[in-house]
Amino acid sequence: MSGSDLASRLDSSVALLRQKVPNGFTPRVGVVLGSGLGAFGDTLEEGKKLPYGEVGFPASSIVGHAGNLCVGYVGSGAARVPVACMQGRVHSYEGHSPDRVVFAVRALARWGCEAFVLTNAAGGVNGALEPGDLMLLSDHLNLMGWNPLTGPNDDALGARFVDLTRAYDPELRQRAHQAAVKEGVVLREGVYCALSGPTYETPAEIRMFRTLGADAVGMSTVPEVLALRHLGKRVVAISCITNKGAGLTQGVLDHAEVQETANRTRDKFVGVLTRLIASL
Ligand code: HPA
Repeated sequence: MSGSDLASRLDSSVALLRQKVPNGFTPRVGVVLGSGLGAFGDTLEEGKKLPYGEVGFPASSIVGHAGNLCVGYVGSGAARVPVACMQGRVHSYEGHSPDRVVFAVRALARWGCEAFVLTNAAGGVNGALEPGDLMLLSDHLNLMGWNPLTGPNDDALGARFVDLTRAYDPELRQRAHQAAVKEGVVLREGVYCALSGPTYETPAEIRMFRTLGADAVGMSTVPEVLALRHLGKRVVAISCITNKGAGLTQGVLDHAEVQETANRTRDKFVGVLTRLIASL
């Protein structure tokens, strides 16, 4: 696919979004809700829910990823913030191409979102992180083995070589910390290591990632960050630590535990997201 194909596919997607969400609604903030973290999407004022199929977004096959685009407002009155929120995402391990994995966030950016709040469920690699903790991403290690910007570049969309020195926007991170303080929630900060999955890691891998400087591991988010930084959009990301990494406890890992812990953090997660977005 050439770069200009991408631009025209994004234009078609935005035309469809405008048709499905009429009255000139233009979102300012894009949100992606990870495994088991979809509840925030149901809290929007004047909210409207569109299944991904209706807006041409690829649908996820994974439990805990509802596959709805939720549009509406955070807050009310003059200060309300128009938001487009994805309840669930697709992953490359489901068989989606890199281009499809990031298509929806690119479309939301084209529609009008200038800032993005990305969320995920992650395993704790730093032994100090406990299930139920929230961790703001300060940086990442991309060990997925791929990059969504590989291939022809459309210079009109973004530069060939993208600077990642401050991939996670320092001002938005500050606002996230302020939101957490106001909400009375402890917000940790650390480095997220992105892996292709779908297997969880081995204990030896978890020890290696710790040595490499990772605090948490997961199977998402980084492709979206790369695609959005390419477009010059501002990004902040929060992990819900749903489990300790493999080998850090006596137990074994499963997706039900990931979802259960994510569910358990629902109120504090929704609280921090709401305050953060209201401040953007
Ligand atoms: N590893 C990778 N991805 C994850 C984990 C994990 O332990 N927990 C939730 N997503």
